[in-house]
Amino acid sequence: MSGLSDCHNISDLRSLGKKRIPGTIFDYIDGGAEDEVTLRRNRDSFNKYEFVPRVLRDVREIDLSTTVQGVDIDLPLLSAPTGMSRMFHHKGERAVVKATHQHGTAYCLSTVSTCSIEEVRETSPGPLFFQIYAWRDQAIVDDFIERCKKSKYAGLMLAVDVPVLGKRERDLRHGHGTSKLRRNTALAALSKPAWLFNYLTSPAWRMANLVNHLPHGAKTTEVIDDVNNQFDASVTWDDAAKMLKAWGGPFVLKGVQSVEDSIKAVALGASGIILSNHGGRQLDGAPTGFDILPEVVEAVGSKTEIIIDGGIQRGSDVIKAIALGASACLIGKPYLYGLAAGGEKGVYRAYEILKSEMIRVMQLIGCTSIRDLDKSYIKKID
Ligand SMILES: Cc1cc2nc3c(=O)[nH]c(=O)nc-3n(C[C@H](O)[C@H](O)[C@H](O)COP(=O)(O)O)c2cc1C
Repeated sequence: MSGLSDCHNISDLRSLGKKRIPGTIFDYIDGGAEDEVTLRRNRDSFNKYEFVPRVLRDVREIDLSTTVQGVDIDLPLLSAPTGMSRMFHHKGERAVVKATHQHGTAYCLSTVSTCSIEEVRETSPGPLFFQIYAWRDQAIVDDFIERCKKSKYAGLMLAVDVPVLGKRERDLRHGHGTSKLRRNTALAALSKPAWLFNYLTSPAWRMANLVNHLPHGAKTTEVIDDVNNQFDASVTWDDAAKMLKAWGGPFVLKGVQSVEDSIKAVALGASGIILSNHGGRQLDGAPTGFDILPEVVEAVGSKTEIIIDGGIQRGSDVIKAIALGASACLIGKPYLYGLAAGGEKGVYRAYEILKSEMIRVMQLIGCTSIRDLDKSYIKKID
C-alpha cells in the first residue's frame, strides 16, 4: 500500500497511519484501557445485527443529510473530540476541521487540543462543538464558556466519563506522563523521517486552550500532569446543571452509559446525550454505545437527541445505529488514522470512504433517505 488512494477502508488507513508515525504515538490513538475488552467489543457489537434489505426500489439518489443539535449536516457523522492532534500530524486540529467541514459536517474540539478554540474557528467557518470538562478550577471552565460563545460554537459537550483517567497500559509502557516518553518517541521517530522533519520544523506542541492558565515555561510532561490534576472526581449532576445554565445553548452529555443516567440527563435539560465509552479508553468492561442504544431509545428517544460512538469503522455501522434510533454517530480513531496517514487529505479520505460505504449500504437495503431508516431495516442475529 503506497498512498491514500490505495486505502479502500478504514483498516487500510490504519495500516498506512501506523507506517508514518512513531509507534509510541500510534499506540496512543489505537489503544484502550486495561485488557482492551471494551475496545474490541466496540467493533464486534455491530455484527450482532444484520440488515433486512428491500429490493426493486429506485435507489439512484440517496440523502444522508440530517440535523444534529440544530445544525444541518450532510451526513450523520461528526468528528469526535480527540486531544493532542498535532502529535499525529503537524497540522493537527486545523487539518481535521478543514476536512470535516469539506464533507459538510461538524467538528468537536477537545479541551486538550493543540490548537485553540479561536484558532480552530479562524481556520474554518463551519459548525463547531466544544468538548468541556467540569474541572476543579471554575475560572478555567468559565473562560472556556465565554470563549466558545465569542467564537460562535454551536454547542457544548460535557465529557462525563473521565472522573479519573482510564488505565491505558500501552501508554504506561511507553512512559506517558514521564520523561521516558520523550526518549522512546525520539528512538521510534528515527524510522519516520517525514514525521520527524515536520516535528522539528513546527512550533512545539502545547495545550492551546490552557496556555493562559498554566505556569509559564511548563514542560509538556508537567503540562500533562497539571491537566491530569484538573480532572475532578467529585463532579456531580449539580455541577453539570450549573454549566448548562452558564452556557444556555445546546448542551450534550458525552459518555452516558446507562438508561438510568439517560433519564437523569433528560431531567437535567440536556439537549442530547452521547452513548460512549470513550473509544474503550476509560472503563474496561463498560457497555458499548451501540449495545445500549435500543433500551435508551425506548426510555428517552422521544425526549432528547441520542448520538453514539465507539468502534464505528464501516458505513454499515452508522446505518445500523441510525436504524436503531440514533440521530448521528461520532468517529474518533477513523479520522485520526487518516490524519496520521496523510494530514488533511487523510482525514478527507476517511470521510470519503465512510460516506461511499453509507450510500452503497442504503442502496443495497433499498432505503433512499436516512430519515426513513427504522428498525424494520435491521434484525438482531439469534
Ligand atoms: C486519541 C484519542 C484521544 C481522545 N481524546 C478525547 C478527549 O480529549 N475528549 C473526549 O471527550 N474524548 C476523547 N476521545 C474519545 C472520542 O471522543 C470518542 O469518544 C472515541 O474516539 C470514539 O470511539 P472510536 O475511536 O472507536 O471512534 C479520544 C479518543 C482518541 C482515540
